[in-house]
Amino acid sequence: MSPAVAHAQAPAPGEPRSGPVRVPDLARWKAAGQRFAMVTAYDYTATRLLEAAGIPVLLVGDTLGMVVLGYPTTIPVTLEEMLHHARAVARGAERALLVGDLPFLTYQGGIDDATRNAGRLLQAGMASVKLEGGGPALEVVAHLTARGIPVMGHLGLTPQSEHALGGMRVQGRGDAAARRLADDLQGLAQAGAFAVVLEGIPAALGAELTAATPLPTIGIGAGPGCDGQVLVFHDLLGLTMGRVPTFVKRYAQLGAAVQDAARAFQAEVASGAYPDAQHSYR
Ligand code: KIV
Repeated sequence: MSPAVAHAQAPAPGEPRSGPVRVPDLARWKAAGQRFAMVTAYDYTATRLLEAAGIPVLLVGDTLGMVVLGYPTTIPVTLEEMLHHARAVARGAERALLVGDLPFLTYQGGIDDATRNAGRLLQAGMASVKLEGGGPALEVVAHLTARGIPVMGHLGLTPQSEHALGGMRVQGRGDAAARRLADDLQGLAQAGAFAVVLEGIPAALGAELTAATPLPTIGIGAGPGCDGQVLVFHDLLGLTMGRVPTFVKRYAQLGAAVQDAARAFQAEVASGAYPDAQHSYR
């Protein structure tokens, strides 16, 4: 079988140990009706675990500002912080397609800035970049894709614009707002984006937009009609403390497990039960 034919028969999402996931695979999965998962990753160990689980797309999201660095929003995140975590994820990745978020102010300033900053994410090991919004961002998407930098769009609730949106609230409600989203989605497809995250929109609109666009859609709080779904690592595993948004499903309770383990360690140190003979050198 020639390499070209092998590539055309791309692995299904979630298949362990097949070839690396490439940008065009997402369009193939959409065409074949195969749903896929994307998970955020911020460090080497988590990346190795997600790779072993067969997650096909990993996003070094600017949510790292909140769940790793303790910022109140994604707005303070810098390119240098993104690059630090992107390199760690790239060192742990084998098969997954890597997407790196362009943080706030790294692409809003114009196409030269955007090209340089997107290029730095690729140099850090990402295969593609993600940026938020339609309208003026479409020119940036077209410029980057024309220069060989694959771009994932992000529409709906775009956290870098949370002040302009009046908070982290559901978007696309009402005919006019839904039409604006549909126009932006069409603009992204025309600008050459390879996929789009749809965040915080009504489920019916998520399904409608997904059916109407050639772009693979990846939902987060956008209902079951999207082509793929993404969750933040800490939300997925129950590591986030306090209230989480309605769309978050915790597939594990690792936050409670971490606290139990830390308490048990402290108690055994205090009692002298740890270290015992089994955990000491003779
Ligand atoms: O930054 C991020 O993690 C994201 C996802 C929530 C889609 O953009």
